[in-house]
Amino acid sequence: MEKRTPSYIASLKGKRKIVAITAYDYPSAFYAQAAGVDIILVGDSLGMVVKGEETTLGVTLEEMVYHTRAVARAKGEALVVADMPFLSYTDPHQAVVSAGRLIRAGAEAVKLEGPRVEVIRALTAEGIPVMGHVGLTPQHYLRLGFRTQGRKWRSALKILEQAKEIEEAGAFSLVLESIPFRVARVITGNLSIPTVGIGAGPFCDGQILVFHDLLGLYPGKKPSFVREYARLGPAIEEALRAYGRDVMEGKYPTEDEGFSMKEEEYIKFMEALNGGSKENI
Ligand code: KIV
Repeated sequence: MEKRTPSYIASLKGKRKIVAITAYDYPSAFYAQAAGVDIILVGDSLGMVVKGEETTLGVTLEEMVYHTRAVARAKGEALVVADMPFLSYTDPHQAVVSAGRLIRAGAEAVKLEGPRVEVIRALTAEGIPVMGHVGLTPQHYLRLGFRTQGRKWRSALKILEQAKEIEEAGAFSLVLESIPFRVARVITGNLSIPTVGIGAGPFCDGQILVFHDLLGLYPGKKPSFVREYARLGPAIEEALRAYGRDVMEGKYPTEDEGFSMKEEEYIKFMEALNGGSKENI
């Protein structure tokens, strides 16, 4: 498999769909790499699915650096993109410094929310590839909530305009989150960079899902657009219950699951305990 670079991802538009998934640690990234996905996003959704918070607003740059480093250790051909967290790109200078930390942690591109044209220009000028994100942008939760965007024609037009501005500013691809599929189709058709949808229907150039949603691993509410490809949560609970039963019943571990000791060493050990006597060994 060829290494996925930003230009490779961009070149997939019109050829085949792009496969993207989030990951937050080494094992999730390892399996995503092994499965041959194109893009691994270290999403700030980790605030919700890893930290158990209600929004992504509490995620810090330090946390994104930590998780990006773990994901980047799972070497492979997928492009590793790291989310710029809330308040880490309030102006172009701060954005370059923040993105630099993510790149040094192993990210190969960054993603940021909203039509932050000046910030995108500053990052691309420094050679940092940028993925845009419009529609439902969770970092604007306090103003917009977690509501589908673009259901009214004016707001659909606004999202299209934002998408064009982001492309114009130099982004190599664009996430469309939670917008009507007809709007996503029009935006996809109006851009030369690929769109990657989540809750945006079948007409995007690619799809992304949150790792824990796809695998049935998140105990909270599942968004309606998610398709679960496994139900690992209940499987994990069942495995932990079986472990608990075995421990309580003395069935785990067996001697075979422990470490052995040579007979003569054991005898010497017991003799030493008995003050040199072989009695009662
Ligand atoms: O943080 C995230 O996981 C995301 C995806 C939903 C695109 O931004």
